[in-house]
Amino acid sequence: MTSRKQDPSIRPIRTFGRKGGRPLSGRQQELIDNLLPRLTVPVGAAGLLDPHSLFPVQGPVCLEIGFGGGEHLIEQARRAPTTGFIGCEPFIEGMAKALVGVEDNSLTNVRLWMDDARALMDSLSDGCVDQVFILFPDPWPKKRQQKRRLVQPDFLQSLHRIMSPGAKVRFATDVASYADEALARFRDHGGFAWQAERASDWRSAPSDHVPTRYEAKRLGDCEPVWFDFRVQP
Ligand SMILES: C[S@@+](CC[C@H](N)C(=O)[O-])C[C@H]1O[C@@H](n2cnc3c(N)ncnc32)[C@H](O)[C@@H]1O
Repeated sequence: MTSRKQDPSIRPIRTFGRKGGRPLSGRQQELIDNLLPRLTVPVGAAGLLDPHSLFPVQGPVCLEIGFGGGEHLIEQARRAPTTGFIGCEPFIEGMAKALVGVEDNSLTNVRLWMDDARALMDSLSDGCVDQVFILFPDPWPKKRQQKRRLVQPDFLQSLHRIMSPGAKVRFATDVASYADEALARFRDHGGFAWQAERASDWRSAPSDHVPTRYEAKRLGDCEPVWFDFRVQP
């Protein structure tokens, strides 16, 4: 199989919906124009970027893919000032909200990427990420749309490459068919050990979770499920 890393002309199937939304407020536009360029991850040649170099304090690196309105990203970054957080979100309104959170909380441990997380992942060096959050990714519930779901075999291969041994991945969804599919794909990969020991481990939100407005809408067809994995070599 040819990977995107080998042939950059191959465009991956788009996993997100809209990038633009309602007009931004004056402050949000100002942050997009002036703060985002300073915080944008310098995505470049494949496999070369060590994200530790992006943060003033050397600690673990955490990636949130599709942070939506940024509530989870900002609160986790507030709680762990020595962890470097990289947030990816192509939707400009969500990015603007995250920038407000960064500024309001004077966070120095957040860097951002307003585009497809898979391009950023391709630029990262091997084994450099210690934790990844994929929370309520776009569900694409209709059968013909399911190929647009983020959790695909090539995505998991890329995710596994950038994660350190023993690193943590959290996946959550409230769409039953996505829960089944994602769990099967993580298991089929073989490099992600599911941590659940009892039903309550995946049926209840983990104690360190930060709920979001999107999650509260309960747009799916099942109760949320929470799959925590550990990366194994
Ligand atoms: C349904 S929303 C959930 C947002 C947030 N995680 C939450 O729980 O509130 C999923 C988000 O993932 C983003 N997304 C989808 N595909 C993405 C990708 N390839 N890279 C980065 N973000 C992506 C979408 O733009 C959208 O905002």
